Amino acid sequence: MPANIAQEAAKRRTFAIISHPDAGKTTLTEKLLLFGGAIQLAGTVKGRKAARHATSDWMKMEQERGISVTTSVMQFPYKERIVNLLDTPGHEDFSEDTYRTLTAVDSALMVIDAAKGVETRTIKLMEVCRLRTTPIVSFVNKLDREGQEPMALLDEIEEVLNIRCAPITWPIGIGRAFKGVYHLLEDRYYLYSGKGDKISEIETVEGLHADGIEAKLGEPYATFMDEVELIKEAGTPFDLEEYRAGRLTPVFFGSAISNFGVRELLNGFVEWAPEPQPREADTRPVPCDDPKLTGFVFKIQANMDPNHRDRIAFMRVCSGQYKKGMQLYSVRQGKSVRISDAVTFLASERDAAETAYPGDIIGLHNHGTIAIGDSFSEGENLRFSGVPNFAPELFRRVVLKDPLKAKALNKGLDQLCEEGATQVFRPLMGNDVILGAVGVLQFDVVQNRLKDEYRVDCVFENAQIHTARWCYAKDDKALRQFKDKQQEKLAEDHSGALVYLSSSRVNLDMAIDRHPDVRFEATREHG
Ligand code: G4P
Repeated sequence: MPANIAQEAAKRRTFAIISHPDAGKTTLTEKLLLFGGAIQLAGTVKGRKAARHATSDWMKMEQERGISVTTSVMQFPYKERIVNLLDTPGHEDFSEDTYRTLTAVDSALMVIDAAKGVETRTIKLMEVCRLRTTPIVSFVNKLDREGQEPMALLDEIEEVLNIRCAPITWPIGIGRAFKGVYHLLEDRYYLYSGKGDKISEIETVEGLHADGIEAKLGEPYATFMDEVELIKEAGTPFDLEEYRAGRLTPVFFGSAISNFGVRELLNGFVEWAPEPQPREADTRPVPCDDPKLTGFVFKIQANMDPNHRDRIAFMRVCSGQYKKGMQLYSVRQGKSVRISDAVTFLASERDAAETAYPGDIIGLHNHGTIAIGDSFSEGENLRFSGVPNFAPELFRRVVLKDPLKAKALNKGLDQLCEEGATQVFRPLMGNDVILGAVGVLQFDVVQNRLKDEYRVDCVFENAQIHTARWCYAKDDKALRQFKDKQQEKLAEDHSGALVYLSSSRVNLDMAIDRHPDVRFEATREHG
């Protein structure tokens, strides 16, 4: 029933948290889950350094390294909404994963460390958000520590990230002098008790000029009042349309570790963040309330749970309703597959999905039949666009320790490519196998997984390759000539697409100059 689908879709808020590593993304995630009742965790993400398995951490690798390799999905109800939180790896070596996850969300939450301000990863992630004009809510974290002046921070965000800031809460003091925040829209104070990591009851005081507030706030009072005056007169007011258009970010201040300012953030977020939007497919835009199920795969993860040595494809539902046991049509394969045991992601547990609606993510079990970028429907041939492969920046030549394992190597690499763990290039001349990655840790993951899952021992050597570009030409003749002339620099990627592997920037520029009929692309669409 479409009416039901539209209603359910309207409840969904699907988003990712983005930040530079260490800004507090994991801590904030855990607090949001607490509010959603999704986990019962007293206090904070204690001892993460020692144990290092936050709810969102799954793979052995990430526990060993203390970094989040995988993307996970957590669903929880909050107020009248169903929140789908997509976690992203903090480590920049796995940024491709993050970029792909950002194609599956309707909005993002950006965490900024109050002391460090805008950092390099934040800038890059913001650029990726811009590709799809993803609306962003900001959280300035760690106010319990010494940090920059809030005005300076907002200026920095505006200037470096090129987005206007509309403060929603405003901090009173910082570090030792931190007294809490004032909510500009509610005209209410939330006072910080300084109890460290306890989830304390937060005292509120109504009205900017409430009786006795000066005494309560103490030393930071005067500066705070000056700042609030200034914001009220000259600051950017919150504007829902501007936020939705990605031109303005509402800003909250707080301390994730003390669970301070998080509830206000979540309240603002569920009220303003957009519900699932229509999606562009190659043949037509697909509205959410379309009665037929459609979706696309943005992420594949292997062996999330060592007891289930399976692969899970994460599919974002774009329209219609998923019902347990239904048949899904794989557009790439041109055939139907029965999905009997799809999973939803209720916080830390994987549950069998009875039903799912637009905005939800479902996990499809498979043994290598589903690839990143695959579109699914109830029979219609329609492909969703916008899940890109990025040109790798690092390259390695694979050297097998046992040459008889070539077949197992190829099988393993094929599967790892479909998951987006690495990219493989097979030069047109010779028998080399070249791996490409955006971050060096991706190679470690591939090497370990080849060994663990495919029993293939190999070493990776440096390859003298600077960058890769996918090559296209409208005219077959031009493409043939190009292939003849540049054979020794050309390779095929996993899908058979033609790729130019340049040895230097200059070499690439020369090739582009020499072959004006050929397009050299730095990204390639999956699917
Ligand atoms: P990330 O996922 O963005 O990488 O950040 P994460 O939450 O892991 O937080 C990074 C560090 O910052 C952690 O400290 C965490 O405890 C701390 N942190 C997070 N939020 C706050 C906050 O509001 N105030 C303060 N003062 N610290 C905060 P760590 O030393 O790396 O780990 P641990 O010893 O706390 O486990």
